[in-house]
Amino acid sequence: MKLAAELSHYALYALMIGMPLLGWAMLSASAYPVELYGGIYLPAILPQSDSLRTLLWNAHFYLAFAFFALILMHVAAALFHALVRHDGVFEAMAPVPIRDDGTRVEYTAAE
Ligand code: HEM
Ligand code: HEM
Repeated sequence: MKLAAELSHYALYALMIGMPLLGWAMLSASAYPVELYGGIYLPAILPQSDSLRTLLWNAHFYLAFAFFALILMHVAAALFHALVRHDGVFEAMAPVPIRDDGTRVEYTAAE
């Protein structure tokens, strides 16, 4: 389980960084500009090339589905920790205040 968690976290980081780069590279190979907010354009990172564009499109498309599958598995694993194992792993990431022993701070009306 530790190995699966570590590998999936590396894969999540790789896809979080890689997907936008693939999108940018794909548009560069299409000779299509990437416009940020306010009329600021990113420079092309690849020369125009139909074959590169096809390759990058396929990579961007299929890796996106792998990314979505991984996110679903990741959320399922987080819920497994929270609802089945009750081991404090979910609380380490969830945006709720926790005590040193891993239990949640329950707010009352007086607070
Ligand atoms: C985590 C980030 C991203 C994810 C998960 C993602 C996912 C996807 C998916 C699933 C498609 C296929 C849509 C379809 O045709 O059915 C797609 C298409 C596309 N993406 Fe992304 N994308 C991401 C980031 C980006 C970025 C940063 C750019 C541009 C800078 C970009 C540019 C494009 C373009 C241009 C297409 C359409 C390609 C075409 O059909 O000509 N993507 N993306
Ligand atoms: C409902 C949504 C999510 C929940 C509840 C959740 C929960 C968690 C939990 C419990 C951990 C483990 C924290 C620990 O090791 O103590 C974790 C780690 C991580 N999550 Fe999520 N997560 C969610 C969505 C996402 C998404 C959408 C991504 C990426 C696209 C992501 C990327 C990561 C990464 C990369 C780590 C490893 C952090 C590290 O230790 O370096 N998570 N998440």
